[in-house]
Amino acid sequence: MRTQICDRLGIDAPIFAFSHCRDVVVEASKAGAIGVLGAVGFTPEELEVQLDWIDARIGDKPYGVDVVIPAKDPWAHEPDLDKLRQKLKSMIPPETSAYVKKILADNGVPELPAGTQHEGDYLIRSTAATARRHVEIALKRPNVRLIANALGAPPADVTETIKSSGRLLAGLCGEVSQAKKHVEAGVDLIIAQGTEGGGHTGEIGSLVLWPEVVEAVAPIPVLAAGGVGSGAQIAAALMLGAQGVWTGSLWLTTIESDLTEQQRGLLLEAHSRDTTRSTSLTGKPCRMLRNEWTKAWEMPNAPKHCHYRFRTSSQQRPRAVHAHIRIERAPSRSTLSAKL
Ligand SMILES: Cc1cc2nc3c(=O)[nH]c(=O)nc-3n(C[C@H](O)[C@H](O)[C@H](O)COP(=O)(O)O)c2cc1C
Repeated sequence: MRTQICDRLGIDAPIFAFSHCRDVVVEASKAGAIGVLGAVGFTPEELEVQLDWIDARIGDKPYGVDVVIPAKDPWAHEPDLDKLRQKLKSMIPPETSAYVKKILADNGVPELPAGTQHEGDYLIRSTAATARRHVEIALKRPNVRLIANALGAPPADVTETIKSSGRLLAGLCGEVSQAKKHVEAGVDLIIAQGTEGGGHTGEIGSLVLWPEVVEAVAPIPVLAAGGVGSGAQIAAALMLGAQGVWTGSLWLTTIESDLTEQQRGLLLEAHSRDTTRSTSLTGKPCRMLRNEWTKAWEMPNAPKHCHYRFRTSSQQRPRAVHAHIRIERAPSRSTLSAKL
């Protein structure tokens, strides 16, 4: 099952395993695929720790790091992370905070320990200033052979730095127009993610999107993403012209994943109708299991922040992500109704 991308990266099988969990990254790379660590949840200091851990275990195998950095950086004028944290915090509308607290209380989620805040460092983890530091840290590691950016091409200077370091630069897209822009901006590898994908996702189905992108960006290699969970689906992706597959959700269910048993159980029990594309995490459509959290944001009385007004802002993400995780991990089974 080798393709050209295997030779370029020194891997045995063209399977890219995206995960925010370092154990998954190590085991995937050691098994002959390639693990890619999602950096967005980590402060730069935390990412150093994660990559040290991976480097100590991965031997001579390659791995990748995935960052979230927009081509245009709205916070570029504020490199001071403390100031940025304060600024972002002040932008969270009080009605949003109140609504999140109400959802948690309605679902019996215990209060956080005194002194702990929702915001924490999550506030600055998804900013471009942080992502730039993620890239700097990743490029110091010889085993990092790939930098992927969820938003396609990073700013031109970052693109140049990554490429001149000899690493492959990959960019995710959900439609052909984005893929073409990524190629123009210098991305080496396009990840075409169909709407089936977990996380932020577009509207076009994988079976339609993959061959469309392959044709539009040839000879740039394409990885097929969105709904891949079996060997038959990998074979289908290769038949449609992809050089490999980029997978995410399936790794959440492995024993290496850092999900709780409850969260893993919910994913394994879920059927194809049990997900929804919800704007409730970041303001942009994100595929996730349908549960009390997603339902609450569909209510007519929900603050509208998750819609167009805050669509491009990163400040909504921290609070929402943290609160959503707490609902999923809540001890009461009644709050975990993935099947509604
Ligand atoms: C829980 C979760 C978190 C994700 N976070 C990111 C991310 O931070 N950056 C990114 O580029 N893609 C992210 N993705 C998308 C994956 O990279 C991948 O494209 C997607 O999972 C592929 O579809 P699949 O889930 O059907 O395998 C995430 C996916 C999941 C399931």
